[in-house]
Amino acid sequence: MTLPPNVILLGFMGAGKTSTGVELARLLNFEFIDTDHWIEEKNGKKISQLFEDEGEIFFRDQEKKAIEWLGARKHFVVSIGGGAWMNDEIRTALLRMGWCVWLKVSAEKAWQRTRVNLSQRPILSKSDNPLELIQAMLREREPYYAKANISFDTVGKSPKEIANEISRTLNEEHPFDLPKM
Ligand code: S3P
Repeated sequence: MTLPPNVILLGFMGAGKTSTGVELARLLNFEFIDTDHWIEEKNGKKISQLFEDEGEIFFRDQEKKAIEWLGARKHFVVSIGGGAWMNDEIRTALLRMGWCVWLKVSAEKAWQRTRVNLSQRPILSKSDNPLELIQAMLREREPYYAKANISFDTVGKSPKEIANEISRTLNEEHPFDLPKM
């Protein structure tokens, strides 16, 4: 199997990008990086605190810096924050850097998964009706997520199952094998 230079996992909050990424990196023998963690380490603060202290514009700029840091690095599974893909520059850079995989999640499932640690969700925690906000954000973001190279449904599946499915697609459909001469 020929592997892509990197695999990028994108999608809405609660899609399971981080837990799936860890499993997938193990399966592919790639390194794993989560851009939210990278930003937290670099700034010495949780994302929620960073939003509080510096605001969203600063955070979005940090997302760009995380992608710049990745630059020409290879053999990474990268999980990005749910909003990073909305930035044209980031999206274009990521589509050049590797295979971009959209992990799909329904609004109801995203809410079920994010409500357990709502204080760590700076955008949702400010809302009076987070489920309605999730529905609106998904409507706005899905046409952009759909620009990924491939998508997988996550509802009803464990991160391990999703990672296996992604790895099986690489194995069986050979999206990166060169055509035989
Ligand atoms: C965000 C998603 C979060 C985090 C930040 C903003 C978004 O990441 O980057 O709270 O705009 O969707 P996850 O998608 O990893 O939860």
